[in-house]
Amino acid sequence: MSIQIAGLKKSYGDQRAVDGVDIEVADGGMLVLLGPSGCGKTTTMRCIAGLEEPHEGEIRIKGKPVFSRAYNINVAVHERRIGMVFQSYAIWPHMTVQENVAYPLDMMGTPRAEKEQRVREALSLVGLEGFGERGASYLSGGQMQRVALARSLVMRPSVLLFDEPLSNLDARLRDHLRVQLRELQTRFGITSVYVTHDQREALAIADEVAVMQKGKVVQRGDPVSIYRRPLSSSIADFLGYSNIFDAHAQGEGRVALDGHDTALATLDPLPTDGAFSVCVRPEDIHVLPEGAADGPAGERIAGEVTLVSFMGSFHQCRIRTPSGAVWEAHAPAVGRPIRLGERVQLILPPAAVLLAPRR
Ligand SMILES: Nc1ncnc2c1ncn2[C@@H]1O[C@H](COP(=O)(O)OP(=O)(O)OP(=O)(O)O)[C@@H](O)[C@H]1O
Ligand SMILES: [Mg+2]
Repeated sequence: MSIQIAGLKKSYGDQRAVDGVDIEVADGGMLVLLGPSGCGKTTTMRCIAGLEEPHEGEIRIKGKPVFSRAYNINVAVHERRIGMVFQSYAIWPHMTVQENVAYPLDMMGTPRAEKEQRVREALSLVGLEGFGERGASYLSGGQMQRVALARSLVMRPSVLLFDEPLSNLDARLRDHLRVQLRELQTRFGITSVYVTHDQREALAIADEVAVMQKGKVVQRGDPVSIYRRPLSSSIADFLGYSNIFDAHAQGEGRVALDGHDTALATLDPLPTDGAFSVCVRPEDIHVLPEGAADGPAGERIAGEVTLVSFMGSFHQCRIRTPSGAVWEAHAPAVGRPIRLGERVQLILPPAAVLLAPRR
């Protein structure tokens, strides 16, 4: 393991920002911390970097303790050899690109020839060869973020930390840089922790995802299992299961939605105790015209379309049933379009109906 964090706690006054976090990142792996605003992601990162002193816990990097409350260890920021890229570009506008990238090497007293060589290498890695002489304030947002990335790579860090590095960029550039970043990270096998509140970005970039809520890691796993098997209704909600209904077991593989005249078949085992919710992803629901007899096997629910947004590869629809339940479903963008006010039927295949503890 390259990063090991155990029992990490950090408070600001009586505000518990990180509340007992345990994390391990495999050598060369990419762990994504995913969670809503204020759940403690940045605080966790700042503790790893040494910018924040935890109140409790232990942090090891490549087996070496860099922080331990019990043993009174707290290694200084610059001795941890950690590269960091943050949301705000944090590059110096009055310096040139190469001065920015060379900065960590200047701090380390790297000889000039080696420094120039490494800066050239780092700039070429991020696709900014030829930009060295340019003033850093004469760059686009994406270029600035690549300077920040080059600066974090130039010191050959043992660990890279990314805190929402792409969130100030437009959608296309974000996708492009995300792929580039993942490519560099895997090519050099640099152990990394990446923070985001965007579930799509998290699933796309991670080897492993740790979902955080209120200062705690509430679920860990590979992207596919996180996507398919959220451990609670609130995690499901955060992961884009936009149809979440309180429900109770009916028996024989069926559940009924509380307060609605709807029962659904599910492949999940029926819970025997504790409150639970039905969670369904909008892309797993099929939308068909009212009278249509085709479509996959599954429960059919009648309703009326109250909202349609064209999303390119699908139409995002909102459908209200007679009992007042509102479902979100994706209808195909090809063929006859679903229209506002139209009466439709939703098909919910049993495999799409997930049951999760309500919390
Ligand atoms: N310097 C500080 N002083 C006081 N409270 C702080 C400080 N930094 C963070 N907090 C609080 O600690 C909690 C966790 O903050 P943190 O910045 O770690 O959240 P986050 O998950 O990174 O959120 P976001 O997605 O909005 O960046 C929040 O409630 C925040 O208000
Ligand atoms: Mg943050």
